Amino acid sequence: MTTNRQILLLEQPKGALEESHYELRDGPLPEPGDGEILVRTLLISIDAANRAWMQGATYRKEMTGGSVMEGYGVGQVVESKAEGVAVGDIVACEVGWQDYSVHLGRRVVKLPHDYRPLSHFISILGIAGLTAWHGLMTVGRPEAGETVLVSAAAGSVGQYVGQIAKAKDCTAIGIAGGPEKCAFVTDELGFDACIDYKGEHVRKRIAELAPGGVNVYFDNVGADILEAALFNMAERGRVVCCGAISQYDTTEMASPRGLPGVIVFKRLRMEGFIVTDFYNDNDKAIADLAAMHAAGQIKVVEDVLEGLEQAPRGLIGLLAGDNVGKRMIRVAPDPD
Ligand SMILES: NC(=O)c1ccc[n+]([C@@H]2O[C@H](COP(=O)([O-])OP(=O)(O)OC[C@H]3O[C@@H](n4cnc5c(N)ncnc54)[C@H](OP(=O)(O)O)[C@@H]3O)[C@@H](O)[C@H]2O)c1
Repeated sequence: MTTNRQILLLEQPKGALEESHYELRDGPLPEPGDGEILVRTLLISIDAANRAWMQGATYRKEMTGGSVMEGYGVGQVVESKAEGVAVGDIVACEVGWQDYSVHLGRRVVKLPHDYRPLSHFISILGIAGLTAWHGLMTVGRPEAGETVLVSAAAGSVGQYVGQIAKAKDCTAIGIAGGPEKCAFVTDELGFDACIDYKGEHVRKRIAELAPGGVNVYFDNVGADILEAALFNMAERGRVVCCGAISQYDTTEMASPRGLPGVIVFKRLRMEGFIVTDFYNDNDKAIADLAAMHAAGQIKVVEDVLEGLEQAPRGLIGLLAGDNVGKRMIRVAPDPD
């Protein structure tokens, strides 16, 4: 009998997330009903947001303990009772941290049959690339010649923000943790500069690198780094609020000082977004990302851990910054 390995979140963490908050168990193989499909998980996306979901209701309901850890991924249909979805189809959906899951056929996104590697539907053509593209191009709206600053620059979203900015003829400055990550951001990804927030004075370094001010700041971290960016914005600059990873794995919330004064005197626009807000424009974003990739303007850097059981360590490590590029879990190989 086929078993369904599942990773449960036992309880909401009170402080930092730890491996002891999780348990691996053999669960039952779910049965699809009318209109439903059974999906075998191939890849699971590890996202900072997975931790934020445990902090209370956000754009989705709060994740409490006692159920399978939620998460987005790519899988293959192994049984179908839904019109329009066939056995063998490759789909993107909320697979969760488990081998098999059941979904309404009309709620999954069907992916092209013949495109490989499937990891691209999690990285450049999936949540990472789409978040970067929509956030930068639709919310930040940089113009050629402007300066774009992005935090968590060596991470999954940040790597694309800077590379897209360069492809659109902007100056790209990253912020990342440690000299090695900063060297990767400039030497491998082609950013113009990168600030090591663990070893450098961020506010002073932004001022040195962007003497005319920052036109678009793409914020992935919040708190003191956001504050340092705000005071270095050019007049009428745009602050794209994508996430606040510095606040996800702690009970001590911190905010930037100086609000709203700095927004007023610099005439800034500060706007948050969720990638799904722009679902209807995904085709346009994917076409542009694919074209930039084909033209050699965007590199795809993926950080793939092998095996479902690696998922808890993968998320805890991502929150501590041990990933470079888009982190995901390989649960089963890409089908031929
Ligand atoms: N709005 C949306 O729809 C949307 C969608 C996807 C992701 N996001 C947001 O995008 C951001 C990145 O998420 P991701 O899943 O793609 O992760 P990621 O960038 O691949 O990895 C997270 C990175 O954040 C950095 N980091 C961790 N703690 C930090 C701190 N206290 N201060 C500064 N940097 C810190 C680490 O790099 P260092 O080594 O450089 O510290 C780590 O590698 C998150 O804020 C997430 O919520 C938003």
